[in-house]
Amino acid sequence: MSQVQVSSESFAAVRRYSEAFCREHGEYPRCFVLTFGCQQNVADSEKLSGMAEQMGYVLTENPEEASLILVNTCAIREHAETKALSIVGQYKHLKEKNPELVIGVCGCMVAQEHRREQLKRSYPYVSFILGTSVLHRLPERLLRVLSERKRRFENAEECVIAEGVPITRESDYRAWVSIMYGCNNFCSYCIVPYVRGRERSREPADVIAEVKDLVARGYKDITLLGQNVNSYGKGREDGYDFADLLADLDAIEGDFLLRFMTSHPKDASKKLIDVMANGKHIARHFHLPLQSGSNDVLLRMNRRYDRARYLEILDYMREKMPDIAVTSDIIVGFPGESDADFEDTLSMLSRARFDMLFSFIYSPRKGTPAAVMEDQIPRAVQNARFDRLLAAQESIALSLNEPFVGKRIRVLCDGPSKTDAGMLSGRNSENKIVFFPDDGSKQGEFVEIEIDRAAPFALYGKRV
Ligand code: 5AD
Ligand code: SF4
Repeated sequence: MSQVQVSSESFAAVRRYSEAFCREHGEYPRCFVLTFGCQQNVADSEKLSGMAEQMGYVLTENPEEASLILVNTCAIREHAETKALSIVGQYKHLKEKNPELVIGVCGCMVAQEHRREQLKRSYPYVSFILGTSVLHRLPERLLRVLSERKRRFENAEECVIAEGVPITRESDYRAWVSIMYGCNNFCSYCIVPYVRGRERSREPADVIAEVKDLVARGYKDITLLGQNVNSYGKGREDGYDFADLLADLDAIEGDFLLRFMTSHPKDASKKLIDVMANGKHIARHFHLPLQSGSNDVLLRMNRRYDRARYLEILDYMREKMPDIAVTSDIIVGFPGESDADFEDTLSMLSRARFDMLFSFIYSPRKGTPAAVMEDQIPRAVQNARFDRLLAAQESIALSLNEPFVGKRIRVLCDGPSKTDAGMLSGRNSENKIVFFPDDGSKQGEFVEIEIDRAAPFALYGKRV
């Protein structure tokens, strides 16, 4: 895999524009970064922020005062795209107030040609686009926009790994570490392989150095990211795989939790589960998207596993780690999903018993095989199935959380709860959300909580 190092020249060149701005206005220009979508996008935005800072911008939470707005978009479902476009539309008045404002639309949405055309044609106040595989080229793109005063909408997909991109992390105790990019699976409903390109893995030494540095700087919860982390390293001559990487990272000294997302059931290996079971730092949580409980639907989704294979890996996991929390993703209303197929999904739900489920209504994505399949399911049927799925999951989640009552668990405190005044929240190794009264515990501190109440989506308790 070809690796590129970011060049410092374009950083320095844009920095000169920021310095000129500072001479004129008495302060450096501000940059506002808005993120839609998954953790991978959150991690990408931390790179956009890092690059902006290196170019002399000061980060702001307020788009009104920004000279540079970067919108990092998601394309996984229709709703994500319409939301991003509507927000971009709201920035029109900012550009009218400040013609010098530069607006860049980045990420998965703009890797699609029809969206690039739409932005170019109907959003004249957008200055440039930048796809996911070329995010590290932000300084060059911005430099051309600033120096030529022209809009730039060309897409240049690159199948490379960019190392050395500056990162401004949002948190000083939870960190995201991308270990691989892209996806080769082409599940028939999914846009990701088209917008994030082919699978490519970072060198183990680079990942290990990054995680060691994070642990040394006091990070307590580190999540390894990839569209399919189980195929990390595929194609390497030395056979080094994700389980090897996880074992090497687990050997790092310190008090921290190691997580990873997302796994594909066809690639999740017993070797990986053995490494987890023997790990010191690896969180007792496995996110294993099922997508459907019907073998027919799984086949048409091109998932390349069936119910039996899924249960085999799940049972092995629970045999080796009886305390493991398993979470999953399910799509309802995939084209051709019959009542019987949906019943199969419900029966898998009762058999698999997920601690938490992310349920989605199928959303056709232009250019994917499923979007042109016959027998698209009417919205009313999709909604009814969605509601039944949620109801079934709620009682399962509650029954899995109830045994925590009376137990003491170790929780990483995330600070004040966003919903309950006077409460703090945090997460434990199983990634359960835990609420407890504000006793002065600090964000980023591990605390011991005795659980006194369980709900389907959270645990409640007090610090001991
Ligand atoms: N429609 C609905 N849900 C989707 N997902 C991926 N593509 C689609 C789509 N077209 C879901 C899958 C995946 C999760 C991140 O998003 O369940 O695991
Ligand atoms: Fe999409 Fe499937 Fe790749 Fe996941 S594994 S990103 S669902 S194509």
